[in-house]
Amino acid sequence: MQSYDVIVIGAGAAGLMCALTAGQRGKTVLLLEHGKKAGAKILISGGGRCNFTNEDVKPENYISRNPHFAKSALARYTPWDFMGLLASHGVTWHEKKLGQLFCDQGAKRILKVLLDECQKAHVQLRTEMSVKSIKRDADHHFILETSSGNVGAKNLIIATGGPSIPKMGATGFAYEVAEQFELALVKPEPALVPFVFDAEDKEFMKSMAGVAVDANVFNERTGFRENILFTHRGLSGPAILQISSYWQSGEAVSVNLLPTIADGHGWLVSQKKQHPKQKLKSILEAYLPARLNEALVGEFKRPIGEISNMTISTLADQLTRWHLSPTGTEGYAKAEVTKGGIDTDALSSRTMECKTVPGLYFIGEAVDVTGWLGGYNFQWAWASGHAAGQAVI
Ligand code: FDA
Repeated sequence: MQSYDVIVIGAGAAGLMCALTAGQRGKTVLLLEHGKKAGAKILISGGGRCNFTNEDVKPENYISRNPHFAKSALARYTPWDFMGLLASHGVTWHEKKLGQLFCDQGAKRILKVLLDECQKAHVQLRTEMSVKSIKRDADHHFILETSSGNVGAKNLIIATGGPSIPKMGATGFAYEVAEQFELALVKPEPALVPFVFDAEDKEFMKSMAGVAVDANVFNERTGFRENILFTHRGLSGPAILQISSYWQSGEAVSVNLLPTIADGHGWLVSQKKQHPKQKLKSILEAYLPARLNEALVGEFKRPIGEISNMTISTLADQLTRWHLSPTGTEGYAKAEVTKGGIDTDALSSRTMECKTVPGLYFIGEAVDVTGWLGGYNFQWAWASGHAAGQAVI
């Protein structure tokens, strides 16, 4: 049986980073992947340009039952560390918006950097290899029964991500390992995911499909200002994806379609005074896309001066506190990430090692740490992978 210092299961962002870090420290590493190739999600990320990190990473950009857990790893492997790695390979990048960094040479180049580093560090990458069982021998070494025979290691790193986008090979494998070793889970749920609605609302969304508008989307706990996008199935776009991670089933969310105006009601009243002969539709033209404007206020044919203050007040409410009641989300098939996962109480925040199972580590999306949209999830994958890669003995 072939034995290693470290076996990493899952050659995604976190697994690659962990493997190359441990390899650089002289550890013998097997990086095992059940898919045909490593880094499948890296390749499709950011529309093929990979939003690989964010310039402004703070613990507040992450959701976890323990909001302090991610701090240690994030502080010890920062966006600048990853940028340094890219720069050493001649890779360049640009900020698109909100600190989001994208690779100029595309996602393929990011994956190549990671694979080249793995090769330099003598990491053995094996694809199309799956794990049938995990056992521990008398010395507490891990013995893996795989599709290509048994392999063993002192340290076992679970980097298999979450079940988002199963058609890309995503699985709940990490949760099965957690169950085997009696580790608690925070309920996994689809996150960064579009909303779906009942038949009536869906009909409206469908009629607006393709329309995008700058909005503030909020619930009682938080809010995000970015575009929302109407689709044939419901609502998507960055602001919707962000709030979906904070959404609980049965809850409503509110949408402010006039996010640049501090007091929508006061503004409409003043427009009535200043431009009584104008139609609502032309007043709102500068703020709403034409199709949405027509659908929301097109029925008001009379000038704003002839519209009662009560109607103005109702309209202002509809425009700035549009209540939406999603019936659900598009689920794991469309979720960019999975929130929840291995309960961080079970892990050391410094090393990602299980407190009760020495030598067993969980990193990346498998763990109950979920980032906002905008490069935060890859940064967590790099940072947690690096923490474990530095810690294995
Ligand atoms: P990841 O899912 O990357 O890797 C897990 C690996 O384990 C996969 O290769 C999988 O095949 C393998 N695996 C699973 N089960 C296995 C098993 N039983 N045996 C062996 N191998 C197994 N984030 C971001 O910060 N910026 C962005 O631009 C984007 N864009 C984006 C677009 C889309 C469409 C999606 C779906 C997601 C993103 N993300 C993102 C999120 C980001 O891709 C995600 O958070 C990281 O890839 C998580 O890295 P991990 O290594 O933890 O899991």
